[in-house]
Amino acid sequence: MKLWGGRFKKEENKLMEDFNTSLPVDKRLYFEDITGSIAHVKMLGKCNIIPTEDSKLIELGLVSILNDIENNNLLIEGDYEDIHSFVESNLIKRIGDVGKKLHTSRSRNDQVALDTRLYTKHQTMNTIENIISLKDTIKTVAERNPYIMPGYTHLQRAQVVTFRHHLMAYFSMLSRDEQRLRNALEILDENPLGCCALAGTTYNIDRNLTTTELGFKKPVDNFLDGVSDRDYLLELISDFSIIMMHLSRLSEELILWSSQEFGFVQIDDSYSTGSSIMPQKKNPDAAELIRGKTGSVYGNLMSLLTTMKGLPLAYNKDMQEDKQQFFSALDTVNSCLKIMKEMIATIKVKEDNMKKAVKRGFLNATEVADYLVTKQVPFREAHGIVGAIVIYAEENDKAIEDLTLDEFKQFSELFTEDIYKFIDYSEVLKRGIKTNL
Ligand code: ARG
Repeated sequence: MKLWGGRFKKEENKLMEDFNTSLPVDKRLYFEDITGSIAHVKMLGKCNIIPTEDSKLIELGLVSILNDIENNNLLIEGDYEDIHSFVESNLIKRIGDVGKKLHTSRSRNDQVALDTRLYTKHQTMNTIENIISLKDTIKTVAERNPYIMPGYTHLQRAQVVTFRHHLMAYFSMLSRDEQRLRNALEILDENPLGCCALAGTTYNIDRNLTTTELGFKKPVDNFLDGVSDRDYLLELISDFSIIMMHLSRLSEELILWSSQEFGFVQIDDSYSTGSSIMPQKKNPDAAELIRGKTGSVYGNLMSLLTTMKGLPLAYNKDMQEDKQQFFSALDTVNSCLKIMKEMIATIKVKEDNMKKAVKRGFLNATEVADYLVTKQVPFREAHGIVGAIVIYAEENDKAIEDLTLDEFKQFSELFTEDIYKFIDYSEVLKRGIKTNL
């Protein structure tokens, strides 16, 4: 059944029907569509736009459709244009002509804008919970593994850090991600219902009633904007892209660290796969997939940005493409957050290998310079002296701390026995990392 057959002389072509339908994608909005319609019809009753008995009948009809969908007694399928047509047609099938009053003073344009906003509100809370859960796991695993490890810049050994501090860097990133989603929720929390097609309505509706009923902060200010704004989807997909970028960086580190070249961690068997030909292989597929799927989410963002550019006000059918991109990004980010949590929870940290790695790479060179600074050598000069020490140590295949005091003294008379304690890695750490995390 079409919602708009009246002005047409010919049937819609089947090819066009298939091309036009969004039901396979927007069927997941059924809950928001029905609860949105219930709020709308209650308001129509209260404002005496339709009789209260009719409003009650429609509400009951909608509730029964919702229950049947949730109990699998009503499958969302068939030749419907979208979820809105599906619900309205089924309502009329159930309660007869009175169901035809539901769409008074409403357009699918404000209806779809409402459904999508409600859906994003629910789903974003769910994503925030997944972030919090990953943060909790990161914190637990970080605290359990306070071991010394090399820190890197340019992927070259730089200075000592701890595995705990390194992992907690991702905790900080995810905290910002969480805050970004909360900010986005704050901005999108406006009710577009009542904008109708683009120009509002001449019925005496009460937008505040539906706003309160549906839990929005306020109605949108402008009708044309209310039906054609998809900023909130773009903003959320941008936030998801940043989350994916963080997860991808962590994945990259897990991939490197689990290689034999690093050997800092072991990813659990349950999150790895093998090779069909090389019996010895254990591949970090979960991490690689997260890294790979980051590209898909960036693609969703670019796709919707491109769809929206150049659209004149107000609603255009191009905008139907928004949901596919948003749902895909949403599903990807949630599954990646979950799998990352499990991967981190089950990771084995190889303390000894990290300790061994600390011994090579002159990770305490900066502290040798700092030692000279304590003896009043200007830092830039100290830097030069230690550069020469590093060349010497490298040529003699020694770590700095393995040089004898006589060797140190060849570079500066200011070195005394206390240099060894000063540049000891755990002493360096004790003096170094101070944070609330
Ligand atoms: N399926 C449509 C969408 O997702 C619903 C809105 C249709 N509005 C219209 N005027 N054809 O955008």
